[in-house]
Amino acid sequence: MCGIVGYVGNRDVVEVLFKGLTNLEYRGYDSAGMALRDEGEIKIFKTLGKLINLKNELENRKSELIHPVCGIGHIRWATHGSPSLVNAHPHTCNCGRLVVVHNGIIENYKELREELIKKGCKFKSQTDTETIAHLVADEYAKAKNLEIAVRNSVKKLQGAYAICVMHKDVPDVIVGARKHAPMLVGIGENENFIASDTPAIIEYTKKTIYLDDNEIAVVTKDSVKITDIDGNLVNKKVEVLPWEPVALSKLGYKHFMLKEIHEQPDVIRNVLNGKLFDIDSPIILNEVKIDKDILKKLNKIEIIACGTSLHAAIVGKYLIEDFAGISVEVEASSEYIYRKTTTDASTLVIGVSQSGETADTITAIKQAREKKSHVLIITNRPDSNMARLADSLIPVNAGIEVSVAATKSYTAQLMSFYLLALHLAEIKGSLDKEYIKNLKHELIQLPTKIEEILSNTSVIQECARKFSSYKNFIYISRGVNLASAYEGALKLKEISYINATGYPAGELKHGPIAMLDETMPVLSILIPGGITYEKVLSNSEEAKARNAKLIALTSSNDKSLDNLFDIVIRIPSVSEILSPVLTCVPLQLLAYYIAEFLGKDVDQPRNLAKSVTVE
Ligand code: AGP
Repeated sequence: MCGIVGYVGNRDVVEVLFKGLTNLEYRGYDSAGMALRDEGEIKIFKTLGKLINLKNELENRKSELIHPVCGIGHIRWATHGSPSLVNAHPHTCNCGRLVVVHNGIIENYKELREELIKKGCKFKSQTDTETIAHLVADEYAKAKNLEIAVRNSVKKLQGAYAICVMHKDVPDVIVGARKHAPMLVGIGENENFIASDTPAIIEYTKKTIYLDDNEIAVVTKDSVKITDIDGNLVNKKVEVLPWEPVALSKLGYKHFMLKEIHEQPDVIRNVLNGKLFDIDSPIILNEVKIDKDILKKLNKIEIIACGTSLHAAIVGKYLIEDFAGISVEVEASSEYIYRKTTTDASTLVIGVSQSGETADTITAIKQAREKKSHVLIITNRPDSNMARLADSLIPVNAGIEVSVAATKSYTAQLMSFYLLALHLAEIKGSLDKEYIKNLKHELIQLPTKIEEILSNTSVIQECARKFSSYKNFIYISRGVNLASAYEGALKLKEISYINATGYPAGELKHGPIAMLDETMPVLSILIPGGITYEKVLSNSEEAKARNAKLIALTSSNDKSLDNLFDIVIRIPSVSEILSPVLTCVPLQLLAYYIAEFLGKDVDQPRNLAKSVTVE
């Protein structure tokens, strides 16, 4: 969603801000802007659409810039008011001396706006953010101190915000504040940064201070002062970012999504590293900070997540129930928060999130914490807000994921669930020891099997070419691969804008079969050796009888499938219970190639954001 970067120092400010915004681009946005303090003036540049437009605007107006030393930049994903130039950030007060950029949503902006209009403020945009600009200016007129003005203003704000403010009369100072939206300060030598996320600053510094809710940062070239909402100084820990700038490079791949798909074998090795040593040793999962005796008696787990993470959670439910015999409920965070749940202190609540910033999941986790549940977070961002709410934290270590469509973070989440479910099974003694050994042996083989899939994608590309003109798809499966059907369909939807639905194969005949004809491809996920293969095959036959085009994704070598299906995508042999780690890969690639053939913006699909920080 929106992104913020601010800089004070001796580097080329425009370049630092532009680079920072470019590194946040993956989050999704529809307009961009910068405010630069230059020779005592505040100069604003804004454009609609991609950052290239802002670059051109800066280039066209470069004669207006003399020597900027301080600035704030923003990419906006519209919430209040359409994507337009007037709604783009930064926003200003009446006189234009104060500028603000903002991530989040101010819930009481209408009331504040009314009050400010009565005081003579003239609003130009439809945004909630402009209210903050007028409000801080109003407070500044009284306090004559920007830090105090920001503090007094944020006390009046309800909702979520990360803001950066500059004032013409307060040279080379950026004041930042946050509540329910991430914000961090990057520490440099004779320079400092402020941003909504680490990619914005990683090229310049790895030293970071994460602001907590209700904290205010006053950032100059050589000082960073952090205070709480009452103005008390807060002593913050300087943390060192764990990853390198190279993570933000495509490394020769056409898109980040393709690069990230190809990173999956190594990501899996990473997840297993230090946790699964060999098939004879127990899984080491020290991250789970619950007493083993409590784990043994645990009889209810709830998993909450959104989107792709929700699909990983569905696989997680299957595994935990199958391996450890513990009852698991899975729910979309956005629904969980509106239900009177039976969550209590004896429930283990697991939150799953790539970004660790998804607003719905954060709200759900907070709700669970209020009920005194132990909260386990599985996330790719151990530096995130969600991670800070965790009693136990499993970082999935997939590395930064830039493409909006989650791929490698999904496989990493799946692997974390395999480890967790086996860990619980080992504690409870609920699985046969030989069976566990076989599973561990197969888990270790998975990266090599994915490498095999990635080494020959010709059938997947042929399938993409053949089916890219179809307007609707149904993906079907049963059992542990139902989540793979959901996830494959979601991938196709989000990056190619083709209507695709994941459906339990057995449910086809209870309604969706009515839609089937030669215009509707049905993609069936069939893994032999388990309990679902024959049934999914029969359901595929039923679809064929209605003239549907058929695609199989299977590990079967049965040649007769080539007669039934129009295309058969084969993956290496794998046991059904572990197969979701393999089946997701061709489905990611199929979505990728279809989107590529259709010329879509693969890494930044329209209307989507990488972290969805609004409910
Ligand atoms: C995945 O491809 C999507 N971009 C989206 O569904 C995503 O999984 C969802 O928004 C949840 O995000 P999170 O994992 O960061 O919480």
